[in-house]
Amino acid sequence: MLLRRPLLTLAACTLCVPTSLALQDDLDTNNQDSIKALARNLTNSIISRYNERLYGGAAGLFDNETLEQSYPFWEAGAIWGSLLEYGHLTGDTQYNSLVSQAIIHQLGNDNAFMSPNQTRTLGNEDQSSWALTALTAAEVGLPVPQGQSGQWIDFASNVFNTQVERWDPQACSGGLRWQIFSLNMGYDYMDAGSASNFFLLSARLARFTGNKTYTEWAGKAYQWAEDHKFIDKFQVYGGASVKDNCSKVEKAQWSMDHAVFTEGAAVMYNLTNGAEKWKNIVAGFANSTQTFINSTTKTLYEPTCEIRTCSAADDVNIDNVLSRIACMNAGRCSVEQRAYKGVAIRSYYHTMRYAPFSAEKLQSVASSSAKGAKRSCYGLLDNDSDIFCGFSWAEAPITDVVINIQDDIGEMHNALSAIQGLLWPQAKALASSNTSVGSTSNSNGGTQQNQGNTAKNFGGRVEASLGLMAVIGGLFLVGL
Ligand SMILES: *[C@@H]1O[C@H](CO)[C@@H](O)[C@H](O)[C@H]1NC(C)=O
Ligand SMILES: *[C@@H]1O[C@H](CO)[C@@H](O)[C@H](O)[C@H]1NC(C)=O
Ligand SMILES: *[C@@H]1O[C@H](CO)[C@@H](O)[C@H](O)[C@H]1NC(C)=O
Ligand SMILES: *[C@@H]1O[C@H](CO)[C@@H](O)[C@H](O)[C@H]1NC(C)=O
Ligand SMILES: *[C@@H]1O[C@H](CO)[C@@H](O)[C@H](O)[C@H]1NC(C)=O
Ligand SMILES: *[C@@H]1O[C@H](CO)[C@@H](O)[C@H](O)[C@H]1NC(C)=O
Ligand SMILES: *[C@@H]1O[C@H](CO)[C@@H](O)[C@H](O)[C@H]1NC(C)=O
Ligand SMILES: *[C@@H]1O[C@H](CO)[C@@H](O)[C@H](O)[C@H]1NC(C)=O
Ligand SMILES: *[C@@H]1O[C@H](CO)[C@@H](O)[C@H](O)[C@H]1NC(C)=O
Ligand SMILES: *[C@@H]1O[C@H](CO)[C@@H](O)[C@H](O)[C@H]1NC(C)=O
Repeated sequence: MLLRRPLLTLAACTLCVPTSLALQDDLDTNNQDSIKALARNLTNSIISRYNERLYGGAAGLFDNETLEQSYPFWEAGAIWGSLLEYGHLTGDTQYNSLVSQAIIHQLGNDNAFMSPNQTRTLGNEDQSSWALTALTAAEVGLPVPQGQSGQWIDFASNVFNTQVERWDPQACSGGLRWQIFSLNMGYDYMDAGSASNFFLLSARLARFTGNKTYTEWAGKAYQWAEDHKFIDKFQVYGGASVKDNCSKVEKAQWSMDHAVFTEGAAVMYNLTNGAEKWKNIVAGFANSTQTFINSTTKTLYEPTCEIRTCSAADDVNIDNVLSRIACMNAGRCSVEQRAYKGVAIRSYYHTMRYAPFSAEKLQSVASSSAKGAKRSCYGLLDNDSDIFCGFSWAEAPITDVVINIQDDIGEMHNALSAIQGLLWPQAKALASSNTSVGSTSNSNGGTQQNQGNTAKNFGGRVEASLGLMAVIGGLFLVGL
């Protein structure tokens, strides 16, 4: 039996959650302290979920068979990347060593994120997601743990090199298959996720190292995606089978694929000092983000699966628990699909940093999404309270207690990315092979403060959540 998504309405829980906490202030997107506090709350909560799941498991993963929820390998990689950004953006680096242990543990024998444990499902996009995180580690100046040979940048370029070898001229005149190993289902498929990640990885390696090999591959990867209509009029489509030479592109569109291509183009724009070619591409993508924007709320959403299933009546009818759950958790998105938005919003923030002109289109989406993300979370900044985040950013504030005990790490990561990204304009410049963090032209780069008193004791969370579980245990245990 699946024990998932228990939900408790406010009416049923006046004892466990004071009603006064249910209505929260809207996020002030100009208040850095409040943004940092929210980001810290979410980060603490992600780490505490990780620690609960980890006991005896493999560092770096959020999987736990007992808890019946697994997160794809790429998603774990992406989350560590955002936690590194958390340290960079807030100055609170208390989790950096935990994060570096997690990444190092997943390096695998060839230092290229191909752990044998993942073999049955390892995709190029999984591997490159971890490579992008290793690159973030280099960019934020994370120390490599003692005793570990190699540098973060080496691990990222190892992945690049394995993927260049897999670039398959026989199949679709190039391109990367989704799966790495030929026995796996999906080996016959080329997906936009692998294509976009490889493009971004090449572009960011080029920015970091100045090595022309990466620049050339970034150009080649982008051209390939356009030639094969994975990118068409700046819309990005899901992928295609190599069995028909990638001639039939599957039309599903995902925010993450679009955003990762957008960020890659912005890096190339920046690297070329604003070349016209990349400027037009960034502008085209920034315009086509509207595919993923709810026109009423201006928040990012996942059009292929995020479908609001609540009627207005459900919103006021708190007895209609099932509808409310489906509504809050937004239709038909899988665990994996529910994690795309967090990576997407992160890439849009990066885009604004590398190509400031794109803020004209992207800033309002970012601000609205950050506000929507805050509304989607219950318990942020409440004393002694657990934090739970729903998927939709287009909903009214959560006034029900929506408790996603087992599978809301993706949603929390989404919210973290949306909220902490607001801090980029004040952040120190990222490092490159020639410069350390904060040392480039960015004139106000040195103004960050370490928030200091951040050590926390999470001992109470497990008990508190068990207590809540006990209260709700007899009420709603819903398998979706
Ligand atoms: C899964 O989580 C449970 C509860 O926290 C823990 O007791 C168990 O050791 C974990 N299993 C693994 C393999 O990490
Ligand atoms: C692979 O699985 C083994 C056995 O569960 C575990 O001890 C090890 O940490 C795992 N390695 C990685 C990289 O996840
Ligand atoms: C670093 O400096 C070297 C030598 O001046 C130069 O060739 C290289 O392109 C620079 N790298 C970056 C990323 O600027
Ligand atoms: C540039 O990167 C490629 C791919 O990683 C590598 O083979 C080559 O040695 C690098 N060139 C320099 C000058 O570092
Ligand atoms: C596959 O498509 C490419 C163009 O992308 C074309 O040059 C090639 O001839 C096609 N191969 C087959 C077997 O259709
Ligand atoms: C912006 O996108 C819309 C809809 O996707 C499209 O109709 C319009 O031509 C685009 N504008 C530019 C300047 O690309
Ligand atoms: C490149 O990025 C830097 C750092 O974000 C930014 O200051 C600069 O304006 C960008 N260059 C261009 C051409 O937009
Ligand atoms: C949290 O607790 C502190 C100290 O007990 C109190 O001053 C503060 O008002 C509480 N905040 C909330 C949101 O309940
Ligand atoms: C969130 O912040 C509030 C106020 O600082 C604090 O009382 C609470 O313990 C924090 N929760 C987590 C999970 O960090
Ligand atoms: C946009 O958000 C509004 C308000 O929550 C909702 O009613 C509407 O269905 C959403 N539209 C889409 C396309 O998701």
